[in-house]
Amino acid sequence: VVGASGYSGAVFTALASNHPNLELRFATSDKAAGEPVASRLGLPNGSKLRFSSHDDALKLSHDVDVVVIASSSEHAMRLAPVIAAHARVVDLSGAFRLDAAAYPKWYGFEHAAASELQRAFYGLPELFGPPPSETRIVSNPGCYATAGLLAAAPLLRDAVASADDVIIDGKSGISGAGRRADEAYSFVELAEEVRAYKVGTHAHTPEIARYLQRYAHGSAEPRVTFTPHLVPLRRGLLVTAYMVARQGATTESVRASLERSYEGKSFVRVVGIDEVSAHAAAGTPMALVGACVTGHRIVSVCALDNLLKGAASQAMQNVNALLGLPDAAGLSTYARFAP
Ligand SMILES: NC(=O)c1ccc[n+]([C@@H]2O[C@H](COP(=O)([O-])OP(=O)(O)OC[C@H]3O[C@@H](n4cnc5c(N)ncnc54)[C@H](OP(=O)(O)O)[C@@H]3O)[C@@H](O)[C@H]2O)c1
Repeated sequence: VVGASGYSGAVFTALASNHPNLELRFATSDKAAGEPVASRLGLPNGSKLRFSSHDDALKLSHDVDVVVIASSSEHAMRLAPVIAAHARVVDLSGAFRLDAAAYPKWYGFEHAAASELQRAFYGLPELFGPPPSETRIVSNPGCYATAGLLAAAPLLRDAVASADDVIIDGKSGISGAGRRADEAYSFVELAEEVRAYKVGTHAHTPEIARYLQRYAHGSAEPRVTFTPHLVPLRRGLLVTAYMVARQGATTESVRASLERSYEGKSFVRVVGIDEVSAHAAAGTPMALVGACVTGHRIVSVCALDNLLKGAASQAMQNVNALLGLPDAAGLSTYARFAP
């Protein structure tokens, strides 16, 4: 795991170290280099592994089957293609999610690995299935994008919703911003606060539009307006998708569309719209989805844990798929009672 000290990398490392079929071979952090991984991450299994520095990642990756990268997009864009020559990669950053031409605008850098980008597989298993066997890089979807796509995609496919005007309102706990320490993310600034951020500029906007298109009828990308908000939760994320209902759409047909899509999927549960809650999803690898029709709109809500289904447990589903293991391996006993 590269970036194993960050929030999503640490959660993935904890899952990997308890996985019945995986052996955790290395975990990188410059800040914690040399420290025992188990004590730093509060792992129970007494592993002797210590954090390596990021510069050692490439050398260490020669000895493993899969490398999970949980660092910045620019760093992952450079590292993943080199590692992909000898090991498979699951990348949690945004480095392999869009067309190369979109990177300067949405991520602020030129993409330097266009052919790997083109071949990368977008790993949202419930919507796009497992990666083909030749896949070298799986791009793990963004947290808001996972929730927005799970809420909206089936309704476009089944033509109960129009793709012309999809509004995604997202709210995320503060861990979504990573383990940073600057004033804007301090307790005093964020406790009892709710605010929109990156309005019109968040990189999950083109990600949602791009992958919704695969479910929409017609060639044009769905028109998506996405506004993220930070809310004073440690973890958990809730997205409300508003779409224009097509003629004849009812709450029953909308719910049936979601149920058809997610039948038999271990990690997406269709529930009543009032039961979709960030608290109920937080600490679990589950996404909860519920929808209804009101007036001319469909309202579809999805909640998940930004560090699990929005990052680490989805990455584990992708690792499992790359290794031919069951989707839920290492995740099946992962449950939580949330009073
Ligand atoms: N947080 C979420 O909810 C979430 C959800 C989905 C996807 N993601 C994505 O996952 C990635 C990590 O996010 P995060 O929130 O977990 O971040 P984070 O908590 O800020 O942690 C960042 C990690 O990157 C490492 N790092 C820093 N410089 C590096 C370098 N030069 N080379 C390799 N690693 C380096 C850090 O290690 P040190 O110990 O050395 O500082 C740390 O482990 C981001 O791309 C983010 O967009 C995050």
